[in-house]
Amino acid sequence: MSTQGVCESPNCSKPAKLQCPTCIKLGIPGSFFCSQECFKENWKGHKIIHSLAKGEGGNENDEKIYNPWPYFQFTGKLRPFPQSSKRTVPSSIMRPDYADHPQGYPVSEQAVKGTSQIKVLDDEEIEGMKVACKLGREVLDEAARVCDVGVTTDEIDRVVHEACIERDCYPSPLNYYEFPKSCCTSVNEVICHGIPDTRPLEDGDLCNVDITVYHRGFHGDLNETFFVGNVSEKHKNLVKVTYECLDKAIKFVKPGEKYRDIGNIIQKHAQVNGYSVVKSYCGHGIHRLFHTAPNVPHYAKNKAIGIMKPGHSFTIEPMISEGTWKDVSWPDQWTAVTADGLWSAQFEQTLLVTDTGCEIMTRRRSNNGLPHFMDKM
Ligand code: MF3
Ligand code: CO
Ligand code: CO
Repeated sequence: MSTQGVCESPNCSKPAKLQCPTCIKLGIPGSFFCSQECFKENWKGHKIIHSLAKGEGGNENDEKIYNPWPYFQFTGKLRPFPQSSKRTVPSSIMRPDYADHPQGYPVSEQAVKGTSQIKVLDDEEIEGMKVACKLGREVLDEAARVCDVGVTTDEIDRVVHEACIERDCYPSPLNYYEFPKSCCTSVNEVICHGIPDTRPLEDGDLCNVDITVYHRGFHGDLNETFFVGNVSEKHKNLVKVTYECLDKAIKFVKPGEKYRDIGNIIQKHAQVNGYSVVKSYCGHGIHRLFHTAPNVPHYAKNKAIGIMKPGHSFTIEPMISEGTWKDVSWPDQWTAVTADGLWSAQFEQTLLVTDTGCEIMTRRRSNNGLPHFMDKM
C-alpha cells in the first residue's frame, strides 16, 4: 500500500501530496502522486483499482477485493464497503461547535466533562428540545421509508442529510470527533456507530438507523432497528425484545428514581429472553450538548450517579445482543461489532422527565407511536 509522502509512480520518489480523487470518493486509502504528470502517466494501471473496489470484474478469483484492513479479523460476515465523500451543510444552518473543529472536538461538551451535575431545563429550553426531537423523528421516518433490499446505507445517509437540511437542522453526527457521515447505520452484528457506506442492504438484514439533529441550539436523538425484506423469526424476536427493553425502561422513568436502576429493568428482560446487554455504550444527557450528564448504563448493578428530576432530558438506548455482551471496534475506530459476530439490535428515544413520569419527545406521531418494524410483523 502507498503512504503519503512518496509518489506512487514506479520510477519516482518525489514527495507526494496529491491524492487520486476517485480513490478518495471510493474510500481507497493511499494513492498519492507528486504531480498531475505522474498521475496521468500512471492512469492506465492505476484506474484498475477503482473498478476492483467497485466489485466490477478484475480477476474472478478475487471478486470483492475492497478490504482496507487486510490484517483485521472480522468477528462476523459483514464487511466495510467504500464510502462516498463528505457532505456539506449550508452555512445558513446553525452549527454545533465541533462542526468546524479540525478534529471535531465538542469544546463545550469537554468543558463540563467529568462533572455529574444534571442540567434542569427552563421552559424555553424545554420548548427548544421538543422542536428538535420532533424534527429528528421526522428525519428517522424518512430513513424508514427508504430502508429496503438493494438500497445502500450511503443512500439512507443522503436522504437523512437532505431531510435535515430541509428542516433547518444540522445532522449532529457529521464531524463529531470526525465522524464522517450524517447518521449511523448499524447492520446485523454492528452494535452501534456503523458508518454509512456503499454496501447494498440484503434480504434478511437488520439495519438500525440512528438520527441526531441539531436545531437552533438543541440536539434530539433517536434510533430504531428496521427489518430489511424477509427477516428470520429469531432475528425478529431479538428486535422485539430490544424494543420491549426500552419500553419497560421508559415506563420506569419518574422524579425520584435513580438513573442507575434503569439498567436492572433492561437486563432482567434481556436475560429472561436469553439475550445479553452491551456495556460499553450508554444513554446520556442531551440538550445544548450532544452527550453529557447523566450517564445511563443499560446493564444491571451499575453505579451511575443521579436522581431523576422534572426538567432533565436524557436518552435511553439499549443495545441487546444474541450472544456475548462484549464488543470490538473495527479499525475505523467507530464501528462497534459483537465480539462473537452474532447480531445485535437497538432502540433509542430522547425523554423529558415531567412531574408525574416522562414525555417521549422523539415519539413516533403516527401508527399509535409504535416502531416501524411492527408495521411488518
Ligand atoms: N446518536 C448516537 C447516540 O445515540 C451518537 C452518534 S455519535 C457519532 O448517542 F459520531 F457516531 F455519530
Ligand atoms: Co444517544
Ligand atoms: Co443516537
